[in-house]
Amino acid sequence: MTTNSPTTQATNLTSDNPTTDALHNSPFMRACRRESVPYTPVWLMRQAGRYMREYREVRARTTFLELCKTPELASEVTVYAAERLGVDAAIIFADILLILEPLGLELEFAKGEGPVIHNPVRTAADVDRLREMESADSLDYVMQAIRQTRRALKPDLPLIGFAGAPFTLASYMIEGGGSKNYVHTKRLMHADSGAWHALMSRIARALPLYLNAQIEAGAQAVQLFDSWVGCLSPADYREFVLPHTLQAIRNIRPGVPVIHFGTGTATLLELLREAGGDVIGLDWRIPLDEGWRRIGYDRAVMGNFDQILLFTSPAIIREHVGRILQQAGGRPGHIFNLGHGILPETPVENVLALVEAVHELSRR
Ligand code: CP3
Repeated sequence: MTTNSPTTQATNLTSDNPTTDALHNSPFMRACRRESVPYTPVWLMRQAGRYMREYREVRARTTFLELCKTPELASEVTVYAAERLGVDAAIIFADILLILEPLGLELEFAKGEGPVIHNPVRTAADVDRLREMESADSLDYVMQAIRQTRRALKPDLPLIGFAGAPFTLASYMIEGGGSKNYVHTKRLMHADSGAWHALMSRIARALPLYLNAQIEAGAQAVQLFDSWVGCLSPADYREFVLPHTLQAIRNIRPGVPVIHFGTGTATLLELLREAGGDVIGLDWRIPLDEGWRRIGYDRAVMGNFDQILLFTSPAIIREHVGRILQQAGGRPGHIFNLGHGILPETPVENVLALVEAVHELSRR
């Protein structure tokens, strides 16, 4: 069923290249393939961000978009965060919204407001005016950052590339920024389903070009963030989202693990699975054991520590790490992560305590 499961592909289990082998056999890559691991691998969504003083220092010198577009700086914050935390994977420093620019949208990160799209897509005519992304060339700064990061990272530390999933990207394109109720998004979806599907297929065509370029540049795995898909009913997901996410995932290079992540997806897990992904992300709203049972043990899972608990203490964090590990039951195919990204005010020492607790309590 899974479209790009490594088990169905002839992956090169051994090679003449020791770096390739070290990456292939790292705990993170093994967990993506549901193989046995010496301890549960952990990384954290938004692990490079404002909660870290060193990030804020780099960020003070430039705007967020410039930081994303300067490969040396993007690489520096990626590598710094991964090594400081001692996590089992790095994620390239970028943003899901960067792809909006080559699609013809004017993107700005306004101070204190989050992302703003100045020419949102509201009508069929707006959809027609979008540009078709013929290649990922205009996002080459991301590929440069990946190449530099791959060279700078320890040879056995995997690097994750990523993109937004079609629904979450469409929601930003239509709303013109973040949203609470997705009024414009759901209106377009239901009132002009032709325009909706045209928009979603355009995004779904662009995503594999972008993700395959990231893989080519040196990413070992890729994640699709469908951060806001939990606002949909299962019926709407099936009709308006699933075919497009499926299409995007199908066209990602076979043999490269795909992490399919969303939040608020407790009623959508079977459908996310159907859309694809070797690893399905779970947020904290569903117990990990229940979520995994519903997804099926033929997929790996990622999650699902409530990131707000990082504001408590190392002792409380350790207790809750223990609970999640117990729910995973030592079954191969669990990647420890938060339910969603780290918040800007999170104490760094608690983040370090989380990583240490995962490694210690899960050691086989
Ligand atoms: O995980 C990582 O460390 C990699 C970097 C990363 C960022 N954004 C950096 C970032 C990743 C994976 C993202 C993905 C992203 N971007 C998502 C999906 C993940 C999620 O949280 O669900 C979304 C929805 C976005 C869109 C986005 N980018 C928003 C809504 C905002 C503003 C909110 C905020 O936190 O300020 C951003 C900006 C952003 N992206 C920042 C960072 C570190 C903060 C920018 C700053 O330094 O001021």
